[in-house]
Amino acid sequence: MNHLVLGIESSCDETGIGLYDSRAGLLAHTVFSQIDMHAAYGGVVPELASRDHVRRIIPLIREAMAKGGRSLSQITAIAYTTGPGLAGALLVGASVAEALATSLSVLALPVHHLEGHLLSPMLATEPPHFPFVALLVSGGHTQVMRVDGVGKYELLGESVDDAAGEAFDKTAKLLGLPYPGGPVLARLAAQGVPGRFKLPRPMIHSGDLNFSFSGLKTAVLTAARQPGFLPDQQADLAAEFQEAVVDVLCAKAIAAIRQTGLKQLVVAGGVGANVRLRERLRDEMARRGGRVYFPELEFCSDNGAMIAFAGAMHLMAGRQPAERGGSFAVRPRWPLAEVSG
Ligand code: KG4
Ligand code: ZN
Repeated sequence: MNHLVLGIESSCDETGIGLYDSRAGLLAHTVFSQIDMHAAYGGVVPELASRDHVRRIIPLIREAMAKGGRSLSQITAIAYTTGPGLAGALLVGASVAEALATSLSVLALPVHHLEGHLLSPMLATEPPHFPFVALLVSGGHTQVMRVDGVGKYELLGESVDDAAGEAFDKTAKLLGLPYPGGPVLARLAAQGVPGRFKLPRPMIHSGDLNFSFSGLKTAVLTAARQPGFLPDQQADLAAEFQEAVVDVLCAKAIAAIRQTGLKQLVVAGGVGANVRLRERLRDEMARRGGRVYFPELEFCSDNGAMIAFAGAMHLMAGRQPAERGGSFAVRPRWPLAEVSG
């Protein structure tokens, strides 16, 4: 059976719409980023995020339908991010998706945001195949998972405190860099030399697949406050910070590859856009006769294409969503391992 799935993402500060056809692939996607609006406050303001999703969502759906050359009446299901994320922001996408699905008499499919990220490398022209190890590195999560199929996710390790993206963002803020800090800090790091400052590699020898990144920002702050620290040393400090995060992410991802005996590593989430992380993982996996897969850059950050795709994958795997008697809820906190195929 052919499925035409509309995907809706509104968990944080991007409104994203995707249109995925199970035979023809991704037909269109549209996204609006609220970065400029939140920049004035130095971070995401949840209430402003919700209001902006309300403003953008319908025009973005119209635009995606027009780009994809399909009409609403051809849609067979609507997938939307149910969580994790900001409650108010999630509710905007959920209400629009459920209302539209009811009016079109089609299925509404709740999708886990991280599942969207995790499957997004499969939208690439050379996709990975199950089973694989996934390194999920977003603003809110750092997790290593074994993925055996759609809905078959085993958590192997995760951050016990800050996520890698969060560590980038918080460290950038401490260094006085503008929001959104992660990519700005990464650009600064590219101009510096790692090793001139010495930062710890937290939990690198812990013997498990867990991470801890919250201490790094304090170590950066301590270094930046040393008497004699010059502004033009900031790039070197940023480079050492990035190298510390990348060292730990690589070490744990490779340990998961060794532990599972799998040959494919999939990296997903916003930090997956980090150039240094991409370089290092490519080298490390090639040396082991394996391969690393990344989402296309436009699918690293939040988008609706990955949600439409995750919904379509569940439909193609024969999953029917649980009967909810006309009601729906969002799940601002929702462990990925609770998603089942
Ligand atoms: O997956 P994502 O778009 O949103 C969440 O679901 O959280 O990830 C956003 C995170 C932010 O913390 C951002 O700073 C980080 O990804 N990020 C980066 C880079 N680009 C985005 N971190 C390091 N280097 C980058 N180039
Ligand atoms: Zn995300």
